[in-house]
Amino acid sequence: MSLLIAPSLLAADFANLEREITLINNSDADWFHIDVMDGVFVPNISFGMPVIKAIQKYASKPLDVHLMIVDPDRYVSTFASLGASILTVHYEACTHLNRTIQIIKSKDMKAGVALNPHTPVHLLEDCIEDLDLVCLMSVNPGFGGQTFIENTYEKIKSLKGLIDAKNTTCNIEIDGGVTDANASKLIACGANVLVAGSYVFSASDPLENIRKLRG
Ligand code: DX5
Ligand code: ZN
Repeated sequence: MSLLIAPSLLAADFANLEREITLINNSDADWFHIDVMDGVFVPNISFGMPVIKAIQKYASKPLDVHLMIVDPDRYVSTFASLGASILTVHYEACTHLNRTIQIIKSKDMKAGVALNPHTPVHLLEDCIEDLDLVCLMSVNPGFGGQTFIENTYEKIKSLKGLIDAKNTTCNIEIDGGVTDANASKLIACGANVLVAGSYVFSASDPLENIRKLRG
C-alpha cells in the first residue's frame, strides 16, 4: 500500500487554523489527522464539532478522524456529516465493536480501529477483514509531543502478519512520537500511514519535515 502522511492538527496553531490548513493543503501530505478527545476515555479534551466544521471548510484532503471518546456510536452520523473520510474508534472504548464498524461503513466512511499501547494485536483477529485501517498508538493517547514507544515495531509486524494470514488488505497507521528518526523503520516493519503532530507543526520548516517522513 502506498505511504500516506497524516499531519495531526492537534499540534497546529489554533489561532491561525486557516493558515495551518492551507499549509497542509499545499504540502506533500495526504490526510488531515483530527484528534477528538472527551476528557473521559483520555485525560484531555481537544476540540469538537464546531472546530471540525471550520476545518472541513478549508481542508482539501481527506479528514482522518481519530475518536478518543467513550461510546463513539453516539456520534458516527455527526462525524459523517462533518465530512470525515476515515473514522477511527478505540478498541478499548467499544463494547460492540462489530456493530460500531458496521455503523461507520453504513455512513460511507472508511472504518478504523485504534489500539492503545497495551492492547495486543491478536484481539483484532475476528474483525480485521472488516477494517480499512488499524491505528497502532505508539504513545498513550491524550497528548501530543510524547516519546515514541519502541514496542510498536513488534506490534506492526504482528499486525502485518495477521493481515497477510487473513489474505486481506488494511492500512497500518502509526500515531504518536513519529519523526524522521523512526519513520523508515516503521515503514520497513509494514506501516503505511504515518501520523505526525509536533514533528510537523513545531518545525521551522513543516513542508520539509513532511518530506523527510517519506525517507
Ligand atoms: C495523541 C494523538 C496524536 C497526537 C500525535 O493522543 O492521537 O495524533 O496528535 O502527536 P505527536 O506526533 O506530537 O506525538
Ligand atoms: Zn491521533
